[in-house]
Amino acid sequence: MTGLTDLAGGTAVVTGAASGIGRGLAVHAAGLGMKLVVADVDEGGLEETRKQCEARGTAAIAVPTDVSKPAAVEALAAAARDAFGNIQLVFNNAGVLVAGCAWERSAEDWEWQIGVNLMGCVHGARVFVPILIEQGEPAWMVNTASIGGLLSGPFLSPYIVSKHAVVALSEVLYHELGAMKTGVGISCLCPGAVDTGIARSERVRPDDRGDAAPLRSEVEQRFAEGLAAGIEAGMTPEAVAEHAFAAIGEGRFWIFPDPMYRDGFQVRAQSILEGSNPFQALEID
Ligand SMILES: NC(=O)c1ccc[n+]([C@@H]2O[C@H](COP(=O)([O-])OP(=O)(O)OC[C@H]3O[C@@H](n4cnc5c(N)ncnc54)[C@H](O)[C@@H]3O)[C@@H](O)[C@H]2O)c1
Repeated sequence: MTGLTDLAGGTAVVTGAASGIGRGLAVHAAGLGMKLVVADVDEGGLEETRKQCEARGTAAIAVPTDVSKPAAVEALAAAARDAFGNIQLVFNNAGVLVAGCAWERSAEDWEWQIGVNLMGCVHGARVFVPILIEQGEPAWMVNTASIGGLLSGPFLSPYIVSKHAVVALSEVLYHELGAMKTGVGISCLCPGAVDTGIARSERVRPDDRGDAAPLRSEVEQRFAEGLAAGIEAGMTPEAVAEHAFAAIGEGRFWIFPDPMYRDGFQVRAQSILEGSNPFQALEID
């Protein structure tokens, strides 16, 4: 499908925009002359992003939104349409991460991550795709998955499960949007490590989800520390935004800001094709 290049004057909706990659996407879009609708549960961070967008000389509204709630995403779309009319870009980007092994994550740990990471994208598709189709103009949706949506490893199970599902949802949408000749494009953003607040997701955990179940083993604790350090050493959200907008312009589905992780996917795909056991990616001694 032909990409979307003429973005100036259009409107972009970005969820998870109070921090990290979402803020990077929003500010980049503002720099291209797009109007911004930024959404998040973190109202302080959201207002800061809105100001940064406005400082790029464009109009921006902040809409506090919990993407795991269908009615909140519907209200977000209504607010966007009321403010700016037609929408050209939708980034389903909000996400949270809790480390720890599968059987020790609490039901709340699972439900929170699946609710934000996967259901946030599901509600984004349910609510925004019909609007984008009905507008009858070129439009694009980007779902933020992760390289963890194509690989698997230990101690991030709800996150990895949710991200594999976001990849699957995005591919299904690609097929459906194409088969039905909607004129709406979709990309799946699969970053590697990016220097954001994702390893500190507990800061925005809602009270009704309780606290994260503790990490009981030393190996999990060391993994979590290594993960936080790896994220801190990751690429910048601004660089991720550059990759995302280049892909939208070129009509590319896959967005891999960090090519290093493609090797890992090749190893996984090879083991599936051969029927050999998964490569034990993590050795902690
Ligand atoms: N940072 C990385 O290394 C990395 C790698 C791959 C994928 N990702 C993905 O990128 C996306 C953005 O995360 P980030 O790395 O910028 O982290 P971040 O913590 O800096 O930003 C995530 C944002 O999502 C918001 N959020 C959380 N729950 C929400 C909810 N219910 N409704 C609306 N907003 C909510 C948070 O308040 C925060 O502002 C996530 O989907 C994440 O899984 C991040």
